[in-house]
Amino acid sequence: SYKIILDTDPGIDDAMAIFFAFQAPDIEVLGLTTVFGNVPVTMAAQNALTLCELAGKDIPVTKGVGMPWVGPESSYAHFVHGDDGFGNIDFPAATQRELDPRSSAQFIVDMAKKYPGEITLVAIGPLGNLALALRLEPDLPKLVKGVSIMGGAAFVPGNVTPIAEANIWNDAHAAEIVFAADWDITMFGLDVTNVVRFKASFVDSLAEKNSTLGGFVQKSAQFYIDFYTKDSEERVCCFHDAFPLAHLIQPQLFEFTEGYARVGTGELDRGQTVVAPEGTTASPLWLNARKVKVATEVDRKGLEDLFVSTYA
Ligand code: BDR
Ligand code: CA
Repeated sequence: SYKIILDTDPGIDDAMAIFFAFQAPDIEVLGLTTVFGNVPVTMAAQNALTLCELAGKDIPVTKGVGMPWVGPESSYAHFVHGDDGFGNIDFPAATQRELDPRSSAQFIVDMAKKYPGEITLVAIGPLGNLALALRLEPDLPKLVKGVSIMGGAAFVPGNVTPIAEANIWNDAHAAEIVFAADWDITMFGLDVTNVVRFKASFVDSLAEKNSTLGGFVQKSAQFYIDFYTKDSEERVCCFHDAFPLAHLIQPQLFEFTEGYARVGTGELDRGQTVVAPEGTTASPLWLNARKVKVATEVDRKGLEDLFVSTYA
């Protein structure tokens, strides 16, 4: 089975992804490390505890970075995920779970040392915890198996600005640190996650399969579906954060390209993920750029089947 740490800012699609990981027999979630993003970090941590309690999971949950690496506090995505991060459903907070006292970055370092070479870091929020973990332990890249990121937009438009995706835009400097480190990065950006729109009826089918976890996702997703339906005729939404997890279990559902990646940190290019094909890296600006794998295609039907069967 795959040992992972899930770095998250729950978040409705985060909830969907977390439950998917919990339900997948081949995935062992060592802990949820939270970060600011969709919601402030205190709420992200509380929400992660709530999801664990609902799922009957007793694993460490940590609170992590609450601000971007550089610059002032971000605005949060309450217009996408609701004031509570769960689509304003008034869900009761966990009462039987407490936070692990360590920071998210420290937890990542501790686990990497405990299971050297075994852990995949799956990051589905802004990348501050991973950047900080790299600062705490510069050998971290040697200690983990790889990094799977939901974030970025390599060859398609962004969702916060014309060129930037939310997770990368929220902490572009941290993302640049993470992309420059010497580890294997697989990027699941809007190239795949924004292209697959899941119908509301598909979300209903998760609830039919699993009334507790699927039911929660279905309930909280209504607000999120309202947001995504603004630019569509049907009621639809995206499950961005579940993609890197689906890939762990069924890699054959995806196609990739490789390139050298950098992250924009200027005013205009903030959060842009620029992926240069091999041979286009002569400029000194690209000297530190590392090769990443970028998902470019996904088998939509295979993905839906995997989600439904795993929720069952
Ligand atoms: C990403 O941003 C957040 O709103 C989602 O949870 C996802 O991680 C999509 O751009
Ligand atoms: Ca997220």
